[in-house]
Amino acid sequence: MKKMPFILLLAFSLILAIGGCYYDVEEDLYPSQECDTSNVTYSGTVAPIIQNNCLLCHSNASRLGDITLEGYTNIKVYADNGRLLGAVKHQSGYAPMPDGAPQLDDCLISRIEQWVVDGAPNN
Ligand code: HEC
Repeated sequence: MKKMPFILLLAFSLILAIGGCYYDVEEDLYPSQECDTSNVTYSGTVAPIIQNNCLLCHSNASRLGDITLEGYTNIKVYADNGRLLGAVKHQSGYAPMPDGAPQLDDCLISRIEQWVVDGAPNN
């Protein structure tokens, strides 16, 4: 029993050492997986992101906050008035979206932003 504290201490330092060396910055580990924002389109990129993360609340049927993002003409309004980016980027003055869920991945946000910067085309 006398050795117990020592073993505990050893185990504890091991955990600390392993934890401290754990390095999981994705961009550094997999440089080739950088966010690709080329060839961003409404139908191929933006619509699926919105479908997966937003339509639960912002379909034509649910329209929470009286906002529908379903279909190009509807989302185009929010792309152009800045509220789409303001909400997904959690900018001050906008309700942070998706509501009640973690912020979208940086890469998804970058892709949406690229589409908006391109003029939010119907492509
Ligand atoms: C769980 C339901 C829910 C989800 C999921 C959700 N929203 Fe919302 N959204 C709301 C509600 C409720 C409001 C009104 C909130 C308010 O005005 O405070 C809102 C408001 C907004 C607004 C207006 C924000 C403003 O301040 O002008 C935008 C734009 C928006 N949502 C976009 C999105 C986008 C894009 C997604 C997906 C990434 C999303 N929402 C996901 C419920 C949701």
